[in-house]
Amino acid sequence: MTATRTPHAASLPPLPHWESPPADLKAAIRQIKAALRTRIAASGRSVEDVFAVIEARVRTQVNEIAAARSRRETIWPVIDYVDIAAGTVRASELAKLRRRGCLVVRGQFPRERALAWDAGIVDYVDSNRFFENYRGPGDDFFGSVGSKPEIYPIYWSPAQMQARQSDEMATVQGFLNHLWQYESDGVRWFDPNRDSLYPDRIRRRPAGATSQGLGTHLDPGTLDLWMTKAYQQAFRHLFDGTIESYDPWDSSYRTTASQYPGSTMCSAFRTFQGWTALSDMDHDQGVLHTVPIPEAMGYLMLRPLLADVPDEDMCGVTTNQVFPASEEWHSLPLQALSGIPDVKAGDSVWWHCDMIHSVAPVRNQRGWGNVIYIPAAPWCPRNQAYAHSVREAFVTGSSPADFPAEHYERDWPNRFRFDDLNSTGRHGLGIDP
Ligand SMILES: [Fe+2]
Repeated sequence: MTATRTPHAASLPPLPHWESPPADLKAAIRQIKAALRTRIAASGRSVEDVFAVIEARVRTQVNEIAAARSRRETIWPVIDYVDIAAGTVRASELAKLRRRGCLVVRGQFPRERALAWDAGIVDYVDSNRFFENYRGPGDDFFGSVGSKPEIYPIYWSPAQMQARQSDEMATVQGFLNHLWQYESDGVRWFDPNRDSLYPDRIRRRPAGATSQGLGTHLDPGTLDLWMTKAYQQAFRHLFDGTIESYDPWDSSYRTTASQYPGSTMCSAFRTFQGWTALSDMDHDQGVLHTVPIPEAMGYLMLRPLLADVPDEDMCGVTTNQVFPASEEWHSLPLQALSGIPDVKAGDSVWWHCDMIHSVAPVRNQRGWGNVIYIPAAPWCPRNQAYAHSVREAFVTGSSPADFPAEHYERDWPNRFRFDDLNSTGRHGLGIDP
């Protein structure tokens, strides 16, 4: 690439942007796609040329993963918690983590502690007659089988809060956050050492369960990823002829962006999504899979601009539904879809926030499949803003604003108490500055 082929971004034609969902989605898709093509062309490169660069990067990794699989290697990086805590993770392990963008942390919590949390959750919901009062799914995000839920819309159990504010969680979140570039252009985009305690739900899937799983998708946003100014800046290298500089670990502009409202939105910026296992789970029992290639996001973002995609189609992405990854448009990265290895209660599982993921189907599941969802959502303007409503929800036992307004826990006397917050918890909720 020569300088003449990449004029300064400021000299390129600007992009239209919509800070709230456009009224006419199809018209807006047509308009943004034309503008993105024009902008890329003005950089002196064609859309096809730019896409070929990212496609080659993804293909290299797809081939690498296929080769590793044929050697029967574990695709997911696995690191012992004790090494993270002691700062003794080997450089080769760190390199693999950065390349794959996902991780199993072995023994983040002692197994007995995780199993006690699981039992504590059972006691928490039973003592409050949750199953007798359960009104059915508040949204269709996960679907449902029968009347007893697998996803519990429960946020404030002692177990969840103890895990969220634990030293072990802070240690792993800080370790993962440091994979990201969090300072550029004189801006500190987030604080890697302070988490905002993003409250999410619980999954308890019983032995014998049969589940369809969840299809391949990603969670960072929908049309907003192409259409809001902050995301256009975050993905600037994809759109201004400097694709070689695209770095999936660069957080610039992302921590001030926001998603369009909708039932699938996440208000927080998460460096990693994650969960902590509260039961043992074998790798073939309906577990999480990812496409462990962080750069695949560049592929997903540019794919709709190719000539074979209808002008009004963003490869199936629309508002109010998760971003789908499909064989029709994304068959190359999907070849690398890889499941987690066996995990034990107390292990944790993490994946880069832009990563394609799915949950495999299972028939007549062996053993339980129990997790508490706890991501890494470091302190930043976006997460600070959301922390205000989280604090209110915590104090009143309400469902957090990102989730259906079910509010089961408001009258539950044994939820986690304000006085039980430690320093991490107080900082995470923004109680202490
Ligand atoms: Fe997801």
